[in-house]
Amino acid sequence: MARNNQPQFICQECGAVHRKWLGRCEGCGAWDALVEEAPLTAGPGSSAGARGRKVMLSTLDSAEPPPERARSGLAELDRVLGGGLVAASAVLLGGDPGIGKSTLLLQATAAFAACGLDCLYVSGEEAAAQVRLRAARLGLEKAPVRLAAETNLRDILATLDTERPDLVIIDSIQTMWLDSVASAPGSVAQLRAAAHELVSFAKRRGVSVVLVGHVTKDGQIAGPRVIEHMVDCVLYFEGERGHQFRLLRAVKNRFGPAGEIGVFEMTGSGLAEVPDPSALFLSERGRPAPGSVVFAGIEGTRPMLTEIQALVAPSSLAMPRRTVVGLDSGRLSTILAVLEARCGVAFAGQDVFLNVAGGMRVSEPAADLAVAAALISAREDVALAPETVVFGEISLSGALRPVSQRENRLKEAGKLGFTTAMLPAGGRPSREALPVPGMRLQEMADLAGFVEAILGAKGAG
Ligand code: TYD
Ligand code: MG
Repeated sequence: MARNNQPQFICQECGAVHRKWLGRCEGCGAWDALVEEAPLTAGPGSSAGARGRKVMLSTLDSAEPPPERARSGLAELDRVLGGGLVAASAVLLGGDPGIGKSTLLLQATAAFAACGLDCLYVSGEEAAAQVRLRAARLGLEKAPVRLAAETNLRDILATLDTERPDLVIIDSIQTMWLDSVASAPGSVAQLRAAAHELVSFAKRRGVSVVLVGHVTKDGQIAGPRVIEHMVDCVLYFEGERGHQFRLLRAVKNRFGPAGEIGVFEMTGSGLAEVPDPSALFLSERGRPAPGSVVFAGIEGTRPMLTEIQALVAPSSLAMPRRTVVGLDSGRLSTILAVLEARCGVAFAGQDVFLNVAGGMRVSEPAADLAVAAALISAREDVALAPETVVFGEISLSGALRPVSQRENRLKEAGKLGFTTAMLPAGGRPSREALPVPGMRLQEMADLAGFVEAILGAKGAG
């Protein structure tokens, strides 16, 4: 057991354990992220070498009912959780500092409490008075939520054991510390031990816990990534600074679909739900302008229309600018290359700016065609026909590839008053597919045909 007492060096970014200090983590490549931590030693009660007990074995099929779920009444949150909060589950809510995690959770706790759950909010970051002040701002001061400002996890667990609430919020897990772990609060060792204690408490006592974790880039405190595997559900709260929209995204969910998103808007009196995000992201659209294209996308299980904007301007730089916000810049380079190689539309000597309106992030390959449309439209200074949506994937050969959930995309576009859709030909209609009434489909097999269709509008106009 001597090996156990050797120092170990843990990467504060990815949690990889190293025997000696290195300038660069071998696991994730982060620089200057290794910190020496005392190894976890076996507690006094453990008996190494003793024989284990036989564990119970059972079958896959069971007569147990599906897990009990509590709904908060905040539809956006309930959907992201997979239809409500599962009893005795552990949820991790990650996000940048200041993005609105505490605000969201205070509102959610109040909503759960209003539905009859016994809720406890433990703040390790703010004093009770500060949380009360926020509650007053949100108009929730009368909500039956019990509050504690504490960071000592031993005391918190003892309290939870006697109080037995239905739901506990730990804001944030990085501030919690256990006296049995000999490293500073916020370190990987503390974070892991604290999360482990809380998650096993949740399972043992049937209490749901929500852990808040700050995403950190500078490696000063361990990020929530190192505890993602311990919890049942990982949610990230994200948004662009300067935009009021916030997206709650399920990255992992043992009780529901991952990739589901909920949309909120940060207002002066807290977060407001946005049940119809397409209408919101498109609200600034006036008459069709060159370089602006509406993309019919799917976020999680929900269709969502977003506006993709491009600007193409002559460059005075030897290496023209490629600036992308809300999309993958590698994807832009690929699309530019395919346009040049397969369609003869060159962007050399031009600065290209690409942006998703409203602070949204689009990661679907189905956005390719909309990006190409925005680029061509901006370059040729020709607007697409009004009320047109675009979606489809571009392959390197210049062929257009059909994408999933065609009908859902078309239906959402139809609902918002769009009348034309430009899309790849040959999409396999789903079994119960019905043509969307009033929607004119312009199906195209390759990118060259697509470019012609857009430029045709220029010739005609
Ligand atoms: P907060 O929930 O404290 O963020 P986190 O817990 O993720 O660090 O939210 C911080 C920001 O939210 C802060 O900049 C102010 C803003 N805010 C509003 O705009 N309106 C509100 O009603 C509240 C409570 C906060
Ligand atoms: Mg906070």
